[in-house]
Amino acid sequence: MKDRPGARKATVVKLHRRAPWRTACLSLLASSVAVAAAYPAIVRLPRRDPARSPALPPALFSHHVHRDFMCLTCHPATFPQALLAFTHEDMRAGRYCGRCHDGGTAFPIEGARCGSCHAGAR
Ligand code: HEC
Ligand code: HEC
Ligand code: HEC
Repeated sequence: MKDRPGARKATVVKLHRRAPWRTACLSLLASSVAVAAAYPAIVRLPRRDPARSPALPPALFSHHVHRDFMCLTCHPATFPQALLAFTHEDMRAGRYCGRCHDGGTAFPIEGARCGSCHAGAR
């Protein structure tokens, strides 16, 4: 190969031509495998303003409890898989957890026991 640069060049060009669909397929495969292997059972949601109610434990989200839903039900439209800091006001407006926890699809947030989400709280 080394003494035949022309042959090597041809190989490179061929690979490059194939690159678009090959890269797309490989990365799709790689990302779905990575997600399936890496998604956490429980996610600790960040507080938007850490100074607000510091004594209240952070809310937790359990993938296990929500396992009857397909990943696409929530990702990426409702939750982009990057930790978001949102508030009850956002949820009351029907966003994030409030999309389902509105007394329709699932129990409403207001009036629920705080500790069902803020584990350890009453
Ligand atoms: C009922 C909604 C819901 C469903 C269904 C759901 N997720 Fe999530 N997922 C969340 C929430 C909420 C978070 C935390 C906030 C965020 O990262 O967007 C999260 C976070 C993640 C994260 C990032 C975790 C981190 O530490 O940042 C991954 C990866 C993930 N989910 C994968 C999946 C996979 C794979 C499925 C399907 C098997 C799935 N999720 C189904 C709501 C859901
Ligand atoms: C796609 C709809 C959907 C979204 C989005 C969603 N949930 Fe749920 N959740 C449900 C359903 C359905 C149930 C089970 C029925 C019920 O308890 O009313 C449930 C149950 C729960 C439970 C009860 C667990 C138990 O022990 O019974 C908690 C806590 C909970 N969700 C927290 C959250 C939090 C926190 C978020 C946002 C980060 C969230 N959910 C987002 C649909 C959703
Ligand atoms: C269905 C789940 C759920 C229930 C039930 C719930 N919360 Fe939350 N709460 C959240 C999520 C998600 C966040 C955002 C993450 C965080 O700050 O811990 C949050 C954030 C907060 C915050 C900080 C942001 C803000 O809106 O000011 C306070 C304060 C709070 N909750 C108080 C309460 C109290 C008090 C109760 C009981 C009356 C309660 N929560 C019940 C899910 C819930």
